[in-house]
Amino acid sequence: MLEKIAITAMMILCSSLTAAPSNAQQQTDAHARQWWQNAVFYEIYPRSFADSNNDGIGDLNGITSKLDYLHELGVDAIWITPCFPSPQVDFGYDVSDYEAIDPMYGTMQDFDRLVSEAKKRNIRVILDFVVNHTSDQHKWFLDSRSSKTSKYRDWYIWRDGKNGGPPNNWQSEFGVPAWTFDKKTGQYYYNYFYPQQPDLNWRNPAVKDAMLDVTRFWYKRGVAGFRLDAVDTLFEDPNLTDNPPSPGKDKFGRPNFARIYNTKLPEVHDVLQDLRKIADQYDAVLIGETWTKDIAELKNYYGEHGNELQMPMDLMFGTVNKLSAPEFRRQIAAVDSAGGWPVFVISNHDMVRSYNRYGDGVHNDEIAKLMASLYLTLRGSPIMYYGEELGMQNNDPKRKEDVKDPQGITGWPGEIGRDGERTPMQWSDAKNAGFSNAKPWLLVPPSYKTHNVVAESKDPNSILSVYRQLLAMRHNEPALLNGTYTALNEDDPNVLSYLRKDKNEAILVMLNMSNSPQKIKLNLAPQGFTSPKLTVLLSNFQQPTSAAPADSVDLPPFGALITKMTK
Ligand code: GLC
Ligand code: CA
Repeated sequence: MLEKIAITAMMILCSSLTAAPSNAQQQTDAHARQWWQNAVFYEIYPRSFADSNNDGIGDLNGITSKLDYLHELGVDAIWITPCFPSPQVDFGYDVSDYEAIDPMYGTMQDFDRLVSEAKKRNIRVILDFVVNHTSDQHKWFLDSRSSKTSKYRDWYIWRDGKNGGPPNNWQSEFGVPAWTFDKKTGQYYYNYFYPQQPDLNWRNPAVKDAMLDVTRFWYKRGVAGFRLDAVDTLFEDPNLTDNPPSPGKDKFGRPNFARIYNTKLPEVHDVLQDLRKIADQYDAVLIGETWTKDIAELKNYYGEHGNELQMPMDLMFGTVNKLSAPEFRRQIAAVDSAGGWPVFVISNHDMVRSYNRYGDGVHNDEIAKLMASLYLTLRGSPIMYYGEELGMQNNDPKRKEDVKDPQGITGWPGEIGRDGERTPMQWSDAKNAGFSNAKPWLLVPPSYKTHNVVAESKDPNSILSVYRQLLAMRHNEPALLNGTYTALNEDDPNVLSYLRKDKNEAILVMLNMSNSPQKIKLNLAPQGFTSPKLTVLLSNFQQPTSAAPADSVDLPPFGALITKMTK
């Protein structure tokens, strides 16, 4: 029987390289899903996507001009990192007005046009809501710091010092003190990130009301949801209990502390429930930047009654930092069993690009296609990072004076910051990769000559072409949209194989995560496929021209093979 499966598999493998995906069941099955479950999300760092006015910084009109590209790629929703007025100390994650657009990115009119043009292409717009802190230039904070009796004083966290120093031992994430002394009123304010990012006091009901209103403001303008920034850090212990020491040092060389009194406090969940109630009124989605240490923590973010975040990111998936079939298998099984809808991310603006993290220096492009074949075929919603579909790589600063990111400025040379993964989108092999006529705020890596939209669009085997095919497949194959996830050959140390199964058909994914050729034998009878027909949907390697040994499928080093099975 096994023989028969493999023979059929190999025959079709040789004959139908470009089999068209079926969409017969799509209409009937799709209705049970929420829009965000069927959607592919795409993160845009607006400074670096497309520069319409040639000042070296990307902008909203630049994004609008690229909507056709995104539509053809198969993107359903874009998440734009903060584009609100900001002194740009943390490149927008220091917001000085939540209800406006930074002039550097355009106007409110440009924003409205972006939303309506996106809508014409069935693309939804998600904004980034920086909930934990504002900029120190926000009018709330300017008032707050003006006097101890100001109306906004209690909107932030002000405390007296202790023994001539800060109120307690809490540390900022950015390698600086978490308490900043303010001479004018002789008190310290609390900043989990940079001193220019003072933490809001979420225990003050007025703060909560104002922030909830911000979401209504944008929903009314057609926004389809928010990515909630740094949700772990919303609340602090009101008694300011010192954090206990924990072993080792952090990336800035400071002794570690377990941040139990200033992160992940239970009160966070009350706020998420409030945000969710409003989101539900607008059919909107809440995506969380959720840095969880295990699945139990991740589970919490969905809410006990599914009434918090619909899409907490499984950022643990991205911490599997080398290709490892057992590690990914374990991680996928864990998130798949968490009870909520999984969210897969392999790159973002805070993480070294996946091309660098997984590449072995020899098979980098194959590995990029292999990783795409993984996270775009799992049960859950993927969030792509701009340029990942091209195989963009990091361009890290070489000298301290070139660093723009505050983390890198503080942490150099041990922590070089996040500039490397935020370089301009590579549109073509023209100057500055076609991003801008002016010198861009960050320079593109030399690889833009080969890894760019124009060049890769012409090559049917490029990373971009593989992404396009994968996204088309995700939208057309009921088994990818609705199917269950079943791990196969769970003892295999090299090849990650799984089935996505829906009714009578299934997608079989086989990913060789090793640098040597692998043969795999599958027994699909327990999955209900006694004599299946296999059709190749996609692979990242040249198909064999003669039949392989009958009872096995051959995968070259880092080979990825996606087939469809019908009974
Ligand atoms: C989040 C953002 C990061 C930012 C930080 C502070 O982690 O992703 O880019 O620096 O929050 O807002
Ligand atoms: Ca610009």
